[in-house]
Amino acid sequence: MRKADNQILIIFGASGDLTGRKLLPSLLELDVRNLLPDRLVILGASRTEFTDEAFREEQCKHLLPIVEKENLPKEKLDEFLKRVFYVAFNSMDTAEYPKLKEKIKQLRQMADLPDNILYYLATPPSMYEIIPQYLKENRMNRAGDKSGYRRIVVEKPFGTSLESARKLNEHLSSIFKEEEIFRIDHYLGKETVQNILVLRFSNGIFEPLWNRNYIDSVEINASEMLGVEKRGGYYDKAGAMKDMVQNHLMQLMAFVAMESPSVFEPEQIRDEIVKVFRAVRPYVSKEIDGMVVRGQYEGYRMEENVDSNSQTETYVGMKFFIDNWRWSGVPFYFFTGKKLPAKTSEVIIHFKSTPHTLFVGQCSGGSCNKLIIRIQPNESITLRFGLKMPGTGFKVKQVGMDFRYDSLATTYLPDAYERLLLDAMQGDSMLYSRSDALEASWHFIDPILNHWKEKGVEGLYPYAPGSNGPEETRKLGAEPNVDCGCHF
Ligand code: BG6
Repeated sequence: MRKADNQILIIFGASGDLTGRKLLPSLLELDVRNLLPDRLVILGASRTEFTDEAFREEQCKHLLPIVEKENLPKEKLDEFLKRVFYVAFNSMDTAEYPKLKEKIKQLRQMADLPDNILYYLATPPSMYEIIPQYLKENRMNRAGDKSGYRRIVVEKPFGTSLESARKLNEHLSSIFKEEEIFRIDHYLGKETVQNILVLRFSNGIFEPLWNRNYIDSVEINASEMLGVEKRGGYYDKAGAMKDMVQNHLMQLMAFVAMESPSVFEPEQIRDEIVKVFRAVRPYVSKEIDGMVVRGQYEGYRMEENVDSNSQTETYVGMKFFIDNWRWSGVPFYFFTGKKLPAKTSEVIIHFKSTPHTLFVGQCSGGSCNKLIIRIQPNESITLRFGLKMPGTGFKVKQVGMDFRYDSLATTYLPDAYERLLLDAMQGDSMLYSRSDALEASWHFIDPILNHWKEKGVEGLYPYAPGSNGPEETRKLGAEPNVDCGCHF
């Protein structure tokens, strides 16, 4: 693979959780595999006072587990840390940007770097407008050299409604060009999610079945065992709909439902994603209660930084349709929530039953055939079908053919952030959301959120931690089987 150009990666919000938990560990993993640009400088920027040395030391606690896991010599970590620098500055004050500019100048001279900068906003969403604004005011949004570039990665959530997402898009595109803006959705960085495209479009056998004639329903689950942990402040304003459905689950659904592009190029893939989002049938307000179930786990209101009267949903189950030739009449389901029995993300394609039942008890009256794409953990793909139980009679047993990623013993499964960081450094936006796709997904989600706002606490169902979510989910006509993640 071609290495990205030498550049500076500037992480705003560098003293925060994302930098330590995901960004620096991913960069170290990339370094171990020799995938980073030869001269990449990583500059952490945030308010907390650190020297370069103190910041490196602080990050070490997140990096040491990787050193151990990869069995790296201590020198490898030291070498990586030599790439890492820090500037303490207040990104909410335009007068402080010259300080950042000065540090960039020093680092460029020191490492003899071209005028290439990748900004990464690992900050609270409230800063997504102001930082680009101040970069512009301080003439830092355009490269000085013609051959240089500026790029910016914006974390999710991207807006909180269609209107705010539009406003943010407009604002960013007044400062950066669309090809310079990288809206991250870490689900797209997952190997198993990307593999949906390869599974579908590199095998002739699935395509003839991949439509309303053979598929009964499509189910997309993302369940988590953990609650909101330390993120109550953020989560209480977001809830499962904005935290998981509007982005991760919608993107997964797009990969399952989209048409094949004619070429495997970023814009063509992104065009197909938008077409799916635009074809999703919008809810009319009177059907929302019957098609979207929200729940809140018991004890949520006692979590740190959560409002004691919170109406935020920690669970969503929903049924919807995609109005196009391929999917007309096929129900799609999303199930996602916190404090459920297992941590599982998966896509399940439920194929139609045989037109006539020959065998008693054939797959418990349903269809024997499912394709289960397990995104995580135990990443795998399983095709389930009925077989005769050995012995007398014709008893049908459902069995599976499995592919498990861990059977590729020598293959390293990278973290989503590794792939996404590398792509942003290379300027490849295929796995990043485009503005029109984001707006189209908000267009679908907005009416649900508005409906819930009107209803208040009515229709917010409690569920016990460790249960499968609220009982009311049954009314959707499909039930997630989160405890084994195997759905048979
Ligand atoms: C994040 C959400 O985007 O995705 C979290 O903010 C959620 O609330 C997480 O836990 C799930 O990601 P993953 O990769 O663990 O499925």
